[in-house]
Amino acid sequence: MNKLLICLCLLPSLAIGQYVSKTDTIQYQQKMEWFKDAKLGIFIHWGIYAVNGISESWSFYNGYISHKDYLEQTKNFTAKNYQPEHWADLIKNSGAKYSVITTKHHDGFALWDTKFGNLNSKNNSAAKKDLISPFVKALKKRGLKLGLYYSLPDWSNKDYTHHTRTITRYKITDDEKRWKRFLKYNHGQLKELNKKYNPDLWWFDGDWEHNAEEWEVNTILSYLSENKPETIFNSRLSGNGDYSTPEIGIPLYRRYADYWELCMTMNDSWGYQQNDNNYKTPLQIIDIFVDCISKGGNLLLDIGPKADGTIPAQQENILKELGKWTNKHAEAVYNTRKGIPYEYFYGPTALSKDSTTLYLYVRDTPKDGNIVLKGISNRINRIYTVGNGTLLKDKIFCKVSWNSYPGITYINIPEQVIDNYYTVIAVVLEGKINLYKKNSGAIESN
Ligand code: GLC
Repeated sequence: MNKLLICLCLLPSLAIGQYVSKTDTIQYQQKMEWFKDAKLGIFIHWGIYAVNGISESWSFYNGYISHKDYLEQTKNFTAKNYQPEHWADLIKNSGAKYSVITTKHHDGFALWDTKFGNLNSKNNSAAKKDLISPFVKALKKRGLKLGLYYSLPDWSNKDYTHHTRTITRYKITDDEKRWKRFLKYNHGQLKELNKKYNPDLWWFDGDWEHNAEEWEVNTILSYLSENKPETIFNSRLSGNGDYSTPEIGIPLYRRYADYWELCMTMNDSWGYQQNDNNYKTPLQIIDIFVDCISKGGNLLLDIGPKADGTIPAQQENILKELGKWTNKHAEAVYNTRKGIPYEYFYGPTALSKDSTTLYLYVRDTPKDGNIVLKGISNRINRIYTVGNGTLLKDKIFCKVSWNSYPGITYINIPEQVIDNYYTVIAVVLEGKINLYKKNSGAIESN
């Protein structure tokens, strides 16, 4: 058989149920499109750690509380005021297009009625029920995409290698059977979640304790995308996955990665901690969000509901304020692409998908009412304030007829259009944006 024939024979089998991983293929870019357009997701860390208000899983791993006492929290994890419809409304109204919920954190406590293991909200907590199903239903009803967070490690499971920072149970090479037993449990839960909830995105965590081969990452990727090749995977899969997940620290450079999502806490904790009142203000959250948009990434903003299922007031407030801003500025948030270099505008910017509208995000009230844009070679058709439509005036300086230097554009922003958070200015260009890149020399003809 010649090479071409071998390739042709292989083709059909490759097309079925294959995890789309090649980042330069059209299928990959197509599957990532909604994610790239979405810009905002809400992360939910909910678990028994909310009872004492201690750090999720890490509190016993680091020895701040014994494992036994940590698990005692299950007794007061009531979820008695849990209103998944209200959660989903808050998420939708914040302007988020997807949400990622912790189905199982590193502590191994599952929030659904899993058939694998006994540590779950149905069999082993005061809540006595599956908490994931009603949330998934409420989310899907509102047309939001679903992401499931799943921790690969399970520090409570006796068959797992690690228990706490000081206690390692065993080494895989010493007891492969035991490790296989653990993997059977993990695969069982993952397949169960996949079947039950059919998520759009998987958010793995904790890969650092083992390599891809040990986790059987390829097997996981292949069964989780078997019936849905467009499923998206984050990159915490020991070197695999579709997009990067910087955490808390926003990338400084615009050239960071094509697809990424910054996960970020509202205060300093993922889960609910009553002692942590170090909340960012809505403006500070929007600072970070705008930064993500201008660098072409998403923000996955975290909330940590209380053990009874209520969402802390400060968190609700941030979601609502964020919603006011995203709704007003929808055209400059969703479907945008990363902006232009800071040499052209001293601040965050983004472009419409077709690159013909430039959005300028203005945090403060400009001195003398003007903002300054430089080196845009296109003719500017129109400038307006996003969300209220006011047309703005501009004035071009330093533009001469004998060379192509496009000059400096001053755009005047009247005080009455200034937004409480960020004012967004749309600059509608003739054609795709064309940035002037030459250096100008002496004027030789005058
Ligand atoms: C880290 C932490 C974990 C948290 C996650 C969120 O991996 O271990 O506690 O859930 O980040 O990104």
